[in-house]
Amino acid sequence: MNEPLDVERIAEALFTRRVGHPLIYLDSVDSTNRYLLDLHKTGKAQAGTVVLSESQTQGVGRQSRVWYSQRGLGLSFSILLEAEDKQLLSLLAGVAVVLAIRSILKVPLTLRWPNDVYSGSRKLAGILCQTVSKGRAVIVGIGLNVNQSDADFDPSLKNRATSLRLIRGEVVDRNAVLAAILNEIEAQYEDFQNSGRETLLMQYVRFSGLLDQTVRLRLADRVVSGHVVGFQAKGEIVIESSDGRREKYTEGEIIEVLNVARG
Ligand code: BTN
Repeated sequence: MNEPLDVERIAEALFTRRVGHPLIYLDSVDSTNRYLLDLHKTGKAQAGTVVLSESQTQGVGRQSRVWYSQRGLGLSFSILLEAEDKQLLSLLAGVAVVLAIRSILKVPLTLRWPNDVYSGSRKLAGILCQTVSKGRAVIVGIGLNVNQSDADFDPSLKNRATSLRLIRGEVVDRNAVLAAILNEIEAQYEDFQNSGRETLLMQYVRFSGLLDQTVRLRLADRVVSGHVVGFQAKGEIVIESSDGRREKYTEGEIIEVLNVARG
C-alpha cells in the first residue's frame, strides 16, 4: 500500500539536531522552495527548517523547468541551511540523497553533475538550490520520485524518469526515505563543517556517473563537448575537449552522456 506522509512517523525516525526542526507539512503548495523563501524573508525560518508538501502546483526545477509533484507518489521538500557556498552545498545534497537511499534500500545510484540523481540512464531525483541571506544561507529543494509507475510520469519524461518503486519492484515507504535523507543531510553537513571540502569531493567523485565519460554540456550561449576529467574545489566540472584543452565550468546542463554510465 502507498503510505500517506506522516509527520509524526518522520519525526520519530529523525536523529538530527537541526535538520527537520521544525518540519512543516503542507497538503498542497505552489512550491516548497518559494514557501520557505517567504518564511525566511519574514524572519520565521531558522536554519534546519524543512517544508514538506504532499503536492506542488508550480514545482520549480533547475534552468526554470517545471517539476511535477503529484499527490501521494513522490517527495517534495525544501531545507534551509546556513552555508556560503551554494555550489558545494548542492553537491552535498546530491551525495546525501544517494547515500541515504543506498543505505536503506540498497539501490545503486549515480550523480549527474551537478546533482541530478540517476539510476542507469533515468533520473530519479532533482535538486534546486537557491541562495538567500545575501549568500549566507541556501534553500535546498529536493524532488524525489518514489512510488510512480511509468504511466504516472508526464509523457515528456517517457524513458527519462524513474522511481524507487520502478527500481525496486515494490511500493516504498516515503516516510522512511524522507527521514533517512534528512538524517544523512545533517551528517554530511556536519562532516563538511568539521572536515572541509576534501571529504565531500571524494564522496562526490565516488558517486559521479560522469567521470571519464564523454558528455555534451549546454552553456548559456553554446554547447561544449568533451571528456570529463574531474571536479574542482568549488564543485566545477572539468572537461577536456578533443584538442586536449581543459576548461572548468560552474554552470550548465549536461544534455548528453555519450559513453555508458557507471552503475
Ligand atoms: C531539477 O532537477 O531541475 C531540480 C528539481 C527540484 C524540485 C524540488 S521539489 C521541492 C522543491 N520545490 C520546488 O519548487 N522545487 C524543488
